[in-house]
Amino acid sequence: MGYKLFFIESICNAPNIIETNIMECKVTNPDYTNMEKEDAVKDFLKRIEHYRLFYEQLDEEKETKYSFMKIYDAGRRVVVHKQEGHIESRIAYYLMNIHITPRSIYLTRHGESVFNQLGRIGGDSDLSYRGRQYANALAKFIAEQNITNLRVWTSCMKRTIQTASGIDAPQERWKALNEIDAGICEGLMYEEIQEQYPEEFAARDQNKYSYRYPRGESYEDVVVRLESVIMELERQENVLVVGHQAVLRCVLAYFLDKPGVELPYLKVPLHTIIKLTPQAYGCKVEFFKIPIDCVDTHRSKPVDCSIGRNPQDALVTVPSHY
Ligand code: F6P
Repeated sequence: MGYKLFFIESICNAPNIIETNIMECKVTNPDYTNMEKEDAVKDFLKRIEHYRLFYEQLDEEKETKYSFMKIYDAGRRVVVHKQEGHIESRIAYYLMNIHITPRSIYLTRHGESVFNQLGRIGGDSDLSYRGRQYANALAKFIAEQNITNLRVWTSCMKRTIQTASGIDAPQERWKALNEIDAGICEGLMYEEIQEQYPEEFAARDQNKYSYRYPRGESYEDVVVRLESVIMELERQENVLVVGHQAVLRCVLAYFLDKPGVELPYLKVPLHTIIKLTPQAYGCKVEFFKIPIDCVDTHRSKPVDCSIGRNPQDALVTVPSHY
């Protein structure tokens, strides 16, 4: 088929990483149900010894004809051999940027904006009164979490900058975090779009992920422009991203591994903080709803409205002093 093979070998001899890995991922394995944690660790270490007897590393001298990447001790050292082509270089770049240091990524939309209240999309309006209340509550919530070395990223739009203004942490503005560009529909209400551009409106409902607003963007375009943000998020530790509905759907879909058909319908409500904590196989998700009234800007997919937040995701309602 003309496929190219690229081997990726992860070699880990650092006892602390091995032990953490066993504790976090292996002791919960069905093989160890009803076994004490310590016994499970001992058993798994024996299992590693068995593997060691038969495992053969890629030989850097004798197997020079192969393309491969070796990652030592979860990224302490990396060897890339005979890397050929675009995909391989992107894989290598990606794997060199990810890390296993425990951390959380906090996502929130800006507080309710004047345009949100009017039901208008896009634009660059200020926060509403309730949006400003959310900005204050958010600053308080974040301060109470005592997050080490937190960094705050916002888009370049007024509503995200205003939302983050009270947070005591270094801030960065990203143009790539700006809301989806609705082109000729910027500033309109959904009803107005349906009235003025009925074909466009129907086409978007047909395939919301790929649909591109005339002179604007599609979700697919937003995913592409977010690549640099995602890569930097992978490299960073604790980060709070203050963004927008469409943009945060894309970020969320990346971390929760959601497909393109579900992505444009993910629920990212206003006045809610989503905490993502990367774990061994996936991400833990927690929703913190701040009790300050706001409009609901979510528009479900006509006919099938079943896609949204997983029922098992934790929803935490924050006490009313916010
Ligand atoms: O309504 C708020 C908003 O952020 C708009 O600016 C944007 O066009 C829209 O959400 C994106 O959501 P959807 O893709 O569901 O229209």
